[in-house]
Amino acid sequence: MELPASITALGEQLRGPGEIEPAQTLFCDAEVFAAERARIFTRPWTALDHETRLEADGQYFRCDTSPRPVIVTRASEGRLHALRNVCIHAGYPVCEAEQGEAERLICPYHGWEFALDGRLVEPDLSARIDPARLRLTEYPIHVLSGLIVVDLSGNAADKQSAPPLPAWLAAARVVRRARCGTTWNWKFVLHFLKSSPRLFSDDPPQISIAIGPLSWIDAWSRRAVLLRVVPRFAEQTDFHIIEMATESAPGEIPAAAVPDAVAQALRHTEPCVRWFDRRFADWYWSMMSPTQ
Ligand code: FES
Repeated sequence: MELPASITALGEQLRGPGEIEPAQTLFCDAEVFAAERARIFTRPWTALDHETRLEADGQYFRCDTSPRPVIVTRASEGRLHALRNVCIHAGYPVCEAEQGEAERLICPYHGWEFALDGRLVEPDLSARIDPARLRLTEYPIHVLSGLIVVDLSGNAADKQSAPPLPAWLAAARVVRRARCGTTWNWKFVLHFLKSSPRLFSDDPPQISIAIGPLSWIDAWSRRAVLLRVVPRFAEQTDFHIIEMATESAPGEIPAAAVPDAVAQALRHTEPCVRWFDRRFADWYWSMMSPTQ
């Protein structure tokens, strides 16, 4: 897939010494968005939630990720699975519920039934079709310091390639889950959230760890915020916030952490492109460049 002209022009600007002046189409063009979807959005890794979300066998939750929506299930003996939420029959979402507990996932369109490990169990087509094909697409999934991370590229990336996370997260409790919708391009939302740590605490985070291109964790000594950006269209982006704390952490989360405050701050921020500086452009180009 050839890169749109506005992206290749950015590569040329980076080769020179001058200021970066990104084309406006980088933030609203459908072709640019399609190229980003192919080259950035599925790169490993994506952090989805804390493992306490699935405390018992049979539980599952649906998770919006771009461009591959997934269902995370806990099948027998605590084994986790990240399944593509697209039915192998006619492409309908298998799971519409936010979360639940069941022995099987039943596609609402024609009623095909899948085990929680993704196998098609009803109808039984194994006499006619290779059983290996009769299952939902599955992605590599790991639990790292209590966080559920998936590799949506499906390339079975070694979990050693995931970043090290604070060990205390494994015993943390989730104190807040929230999501916000915006009408900004994903690059702006990502930049805005990463450069506004005081939205979540009066103090800057002690560490900030990227978990793939679209999720990261900001951590203090006894609190952490997992943020995940979900690009939907060129000018529509959601983000998810999961706040975690140790048992001994103060109970109250600062008011500024309320998602409404984040959304309000976004509303009052001019999306001018001055923030798209050489540093951000370098990061972006490192993934979009045809040589990568
Ligand atoms: S699309 Fe799922 S059963 Fe037909």
